[in-house]
Amino acid sequence: MIVDAAAPPEIALAQTSLLRAMMAIAPKSVRIGCRVIRDGDEAHLLPEEARSILARQPAMRRASGAARWIARGLLADVGVNDFAILRAPSGAPVWPNGITGSLAHDDEMAVAAVAPVDHVASLGIDVEPPQPLPDDILALVAARADQADAADRHLAGRILFCAKEAVYKAVYPLDREILGYEDIEVDLNAGRAMTKTGREVNLAYCIAPRVVVLAFVDGAPPYSPS
Ligand SMILES: CC(C)(COP(=O)(O)OP(=O)(O)OC[C@H]1O[C@@H](n2cnc3c(N)ncnc32)[C@H](O)[C@@H]1OP(=O)(O)O)[C@@H](O)C(=O)NCCC(=O)NCCS
Repeated sequence: MIVDAAAPPEIALAQTSLLRAMMAIAPKSVRIGCRVIRDGDEAHLLPEEARSILARQPAMRRASGAARWIARGLLADVGVNDFAILRAPSGAPVWPNGITGSLAHDDEMAVAAVAPVDHVASLGIDVEPPQPLPDDILALVAARADQADAADRHLAGRILFCAKEAVYKAVYPLDREILGYEDIEVDLNAGRAMTKTGREVNLAYCIAPRVVVLAFVDGAPPYSPS
């Protein structure tokens, strides 16, 4: 667990309540963290990371710095120190050997997750504010095959949107294929998704204090001699 000892009390409270909700949904092998994005977070980008991120807008760099601050802490927990998480030309983050992970940020909060690849082949995460998805965006995101009736009625569209982005982030590093919303079928009731590339992805989500979806592709089962 990443503790942000320098956070003022109201920020610490927001982080702690989201962290609790995320830890409740994450599989045991997944380490997860969050950080309220604040002024100066761009300084958390290591020089190599800053060079790999082409976005010039201060808000984007701040968010990327916050996400990498979390991820570096999670990596340190598994013994990988001071690792620069570069942004590949595809946009995907580059993780150390043996580790998969994912980053996301909305306007206020950054999140990150990492796991060993022998437990989880690939991970995706997304974070969104807990507000209904506007109808015009829902029309772009939802497909007939999607199942979301067991989800919170007001937030089902938002969770679906968040799930498809998390699935995309988990599957892209495996298949290197750009997917649209229509290429991902989500069953929130079963906690599963399927991509047009044939990937089966597990889903876990929370809705409060923010919507966070974690998407994970199972790792190879451990070798057991017969
Ligand atoms: C990946 C993508 C969905 C991220 O969405 P976003 O709303 O811009 O940003 P988020 O805050 O959710 O996530 C940003 C993080 O995603 C990660 N990311 C970006 N491209 C990625 C990819 N191809 N694979 C895995 N992760 C990726 C990066 O770590 C990035 O963090 P950084 O900017 O600090 O480096 C988007 O950038 C993208 O590539 N879209 C093209 C395909 C698409 O939109 N299909 C429809 C949705 S399924």
